[in-house]
Amino acid sequence: MKGTFGFVVGVIACISAVALAVSEKAGCSKKDVFNPFRFCQLGDIQLGFGLDGWQNDTHRMHLAAQQVNAQDFDFCIAVGDLTNDRFDYEIRAFQDTFPEFKTKVHLLPGNHDINDVATLKQFKLDYNVSDHTAFSHNGYRFILLDSVTLMSNLTEFEPYTRAEWVWFEHELKSAAKRGEEIILAHHHLPFEFTEDEPDAYWTFPNRIRGKYLELVKNYGVHHILVGHRHETKNIYASDNSFTIYVVAGTARFFDDNGFGINYFDVSSCDSATDVSQEYVHLQGAGLMKRSEGLPNGCPDIFAH
Ligand SMILES: *[C@@H]1O[C@H](CO)[C@@H](O)[C@H](O)[C@H]1NC(C)=O
Ligand SMILES: *[C@@H]1O[C@H](CO)[C@@H](O)[C@H](O)[C@H]1NC(C)=O
Ligand SMILES: *[C@@H]1O[C@H](CO)[C@@H](O)[C@H](O)[C@H]1NC(C)=O
Repeated sequence: MKGTFGFVVGVIACISAVALAVSEKAGCSKKDVFNPFRFCQLGDIQLGFGLDGWQNDTHRMHLAAQQVNAQDFDFCIAVGDLTNDRFDYEIRAFQDTFPEFKTKVHLLPGNHDINDVATLKQFKLDYNVSDHTAFSHNGYRFILLDSVTLMSNLTEFEPYTRAEWVWFEHELKSAAKRGEEIILAHHHLPFEFTEDEPDAYWTFPNRIRGKYLELVKNYGVHHILVGHRHETKNIYASDNSFTIYVVAGTARFFDDNGFGINYFDVSSCDSATDVSQEYVHLQGAGLMKRSEGLPNGCPDIFAH
């Protein structure tokens, strides 16, 4: 009995000490009291890309907002391609619909948003956000990259590309120093099938892929959220150390998984084991028309 009492008192003392510690530091420690949280991944919203017209893409964005609002997510991340053509009416439709999300949604750019320095600047104005950003949440660090400038070799992007790599490495280093778990999000897929596959439209070119994957492995990243592919699937590292979550979004899908949203539950500081993902179809989307053929005439972000 005495032993049990001592143990209980010890645990209580430990919990209050831990509660103090939690408020003092941003990091995540397996010893600390952890506040579980939920977040979501929205795929390419890409107003103007759907087979049934931009108004219907906008309608599905509205449905996504309703679905997100009915959940208790702490935040969501939209992984780029907010409109298809940056036409005024598409941007306006996005701006008008976006406030329907009552949950904070972090916006990322895709190749349809940014393909030169002028559109990079325009993106920041249109959506009042930076093209790349990072934030902390309950001991986790979310690093949101602009994969367009990260992987492009366009001469005009050069200072942006260089600055973003420096920023990315600095973010990883400082998150690690604080003891935070790291989650990445960006538009393009690092790879689709194997880490050493040849260059393709959907993925990071080999020119930068190795450097990126080395950082991912060195900093113990286990989760990467992407879009661009218009399919919904998970891709695994050859050593299973991380998962790439691909979600099609609400404009077009090229597979059989329809429109939908990825839901994530984070239940501990161990991001390797305690981040769970569930794909949920977009509710109320009457028209689930699969895309015929693959896209063409997409903005080019490379020098030739
Ligand atoms: C767009 O959605 C509306 C309402 O759901 C539907 O009636 C209409 O047929 C759709 N448009 C096309 C081109 O499919
Ligand atoms: C732009 O973002 C800033 C900082 O997040 C915010 O304070 C401001 O209200 C936003 N402006 C508009 C027009 O939404
Ligand atoms: C730029 O990158 C693309 C894709 O990685 C490559 O095909 C192309 O040769 C590169 N161009 C220059 C000028 O480096």
